[in-house]
Amino acid sequence: MLDTRLLNVFLFLSVTSAFSISPKGPQTNSAATLDRHGLRGTSGRYEAELCSYLWGLDYRLNITLGSQRFEVLVDTGSAALWVAEKGFNCTDTNDVQNATLCGMTNVYDPSISSTYKNVPETYFYQAYVDGQKMKGPAASEVLGLGGMAVSNLTFGLATSVRSLYPYGYDGIFGFGLPQNQEAFFDQPNVRAPNASVSVPSPLEVAISEGLLKEPLISLSMNIPSYEYMFGNEAKSCNSGQLVLGGTVEGVPVTGTKATVPMLGFNPQTLDFPYDKPDKNYVFYSLKVDSFNFPGSGEINQTDYYAFLDSGTYQNFFPGPIVQAYAKSVSPPATAAGNGYYDVDCKATVPDFSVTIGGTKFTMDHSDIISFVSTGDPSDPSTWVCQLGMVDANVNDWGGNGTRLFKLGQLFQHNVVSTVDVAKKTITLVERQPQDIGSLPA
Ligand SMILES: *[C@@H]1O[C@H](CO)[C@@H](O)[C@H](O)[C@H]1NC(C)=O
Ligand SMILES: *[C@@H]1O[C@H](CO)[C@@H](O)[C@H](O)[C@H]1NC(C)=O
Ligand SMILES: *[C@@H]1O[C@H](CO)[C@@H](O)[C@H](O)[C@H]1NC(C)=O
Ligand SMILES: *[C@@H]1O[C@H](CO)[C@@H](O)[C@H](O)[C@H]1NC(C)=O
Ligand SMILES: *[C@@H]1O[C@H](CO)[C@@H](O)[C@H](O)[C@H]1NC(C)=O
Ligand SMILES: *[C@@H]1O[C@H](CO)[C@@H](O)[C@H](O)[C@H]1NC(C)=O
Ligand SMILES: *[C@@H]1O[C@H](CO)[C@@H](O)[C@H](O)[C@H]1NC(C)=O
Repeated sequence: MLDTRLLNVFLFLSVTSAFSISPKGPQTNSAATLDRHGLRGTSGRYEAELCSYLWGLDYRLNITLGSQRFEVLVDTGSAALWVAEKGFNCTDTNDVQNATLCGMTNVYDPSISSTYKNVPETYFYQAYVDGQKMKGPAASEVLGLGGMAVSNLTFGLATSVRSLYPYGYDGIFGFGLPQNQEAFFDQPNVRAPNASVSVPSPLEVAISEGLLKEPLISLSMNIPSYEYMFGNEAKSCNSGQLVLGGTVEGVPVTGTKATVPMLGFNPQTLDFPYDKPDKNYVFYSLKVDSFNFPGSGEINQTDYYAFLDSGTYQNFFPGPIVQAYAKSVSPPATAAGNGYYDVDCKATVPDFSVTIGGTKFTMDHSDIISFVSTGDPSDPSTWVCQLGMVDANVNDWGGNGTRLFKLGQLFQHNVVSTVDVAKKTITLVERQPQDIGSLPA
């Protein structure tokens, strides 16, 4: 049972895309079957290619539930898998029905699956930090991912989805730790923290079914090329990899790497980081030694922590870091409200790196100035440039006083990350510079 304060404080931190949170705005579960969907696997190590969508704002992979295929968002900041059920309701943030706001291509139909099982008296209710929500009953299915078949996976069948924009994904796959999800006993319409039940996360089920050679989840997300960012196609494939049971291979890396402990916390007192035996793990969180740029040595950087969130686009960094860095950009980036900073798309940015485990990981300059849409990303006039880092002490995600920050996609573009969920360690390996072309004139 999760502590209710925990639900309030921790569980709303998960998926999001930049433009939406901006203030501006097997049935036959053989590998052969799965291979038809572009997935491949070798025993104990399963690999799926990622496609990037919405001009670089999110990363998706294909899964199957029974024999039905879904393209779902990859989110290490949450821990539940859900897809929409045929006939689901889509609403806007005022809970007004608007079917065009969801844009799912594939919806799940229990009536045509022989492996579908109802999970009695259990309901999912996921709320994401950008305002998206889903609710609906739990179901069990055979999950196919990269050639892996998990035989009894409990997932959420959304009968209701609240969306802000027609993102077009079929659901969200939370690859995080099981403590970071919300499922409730016998409460179809009410989010009742005192009735929460623990549903094992997909990763946990794969491990408990003995499917993984090693208890690893490994992720690479490529920097989107400028050609894709400014092209007409919302989608670009071969944009990264997710590996379960092993490590991402074949991505050119430098010799720079670090392995650090994942940080625990105390669910009763919310003490973080917390390392006593009664500790709990919620996020892929780690200690940040320092954020480095010219002048950063003057800032007291004791007690900075962050977690890896593939469902967040920008980085959410400490106020003193973002404010000082914004000034050092030429011309300076200017506060745009809620922790965001507007910046000239052609500004000159000083080098920026993050030291973790005594090792410096450098961010590509294209991840420091980010192109974000304030509305419909297919409309070029909605695109602006923002600093790739948001002041988390001002933003209502973190709030004044937080010491837990987020390493979003714009940091993760630069590394291959591998989490050992048994040893509770996180390994980062620096990638070699990526050829993304040049910024159009
Ligand atoms: C999922 O499969 C469909 C159909 O084969 C394909 O068009 C799409 O690009 C795939 N998506 C990913 C993320 O691999
Ligand atoms: C969708 O909403 C309508 C009206 O509120 C309701 O009648 C219907 O049962 C809902 N559908 C689902 C799948 O929950
Ligand atoms: C539904 O959402 C779309 C945005 O995708 C918007 O253009 C449209 O006006 C909305 N419809 C209603 C009835 O609110
Ligand atoms: C399937 O998973 C659920 C938990 O999600 C568990 O309660 C149940 O015992 C499992 N069934 C089998 C046959 O393993
Ligand atoms: C949960 O709390 C509500 C009030 O917030 C109460 O009415 C309900 O009986 C409680 N349920 C359980 C199972 O304790
Ligand atoms: C730096 O901040 C920590 C608290 O986060 C504090 O304990 C320490 O005294 C500070 N050091 C300096 C030199 O101000
Ligand atoms: C954060 O809190 C401190 C101490 O309470 C206060 O001095 C500071 O003005 C606050 N900053 C913001 C951005 O609210």
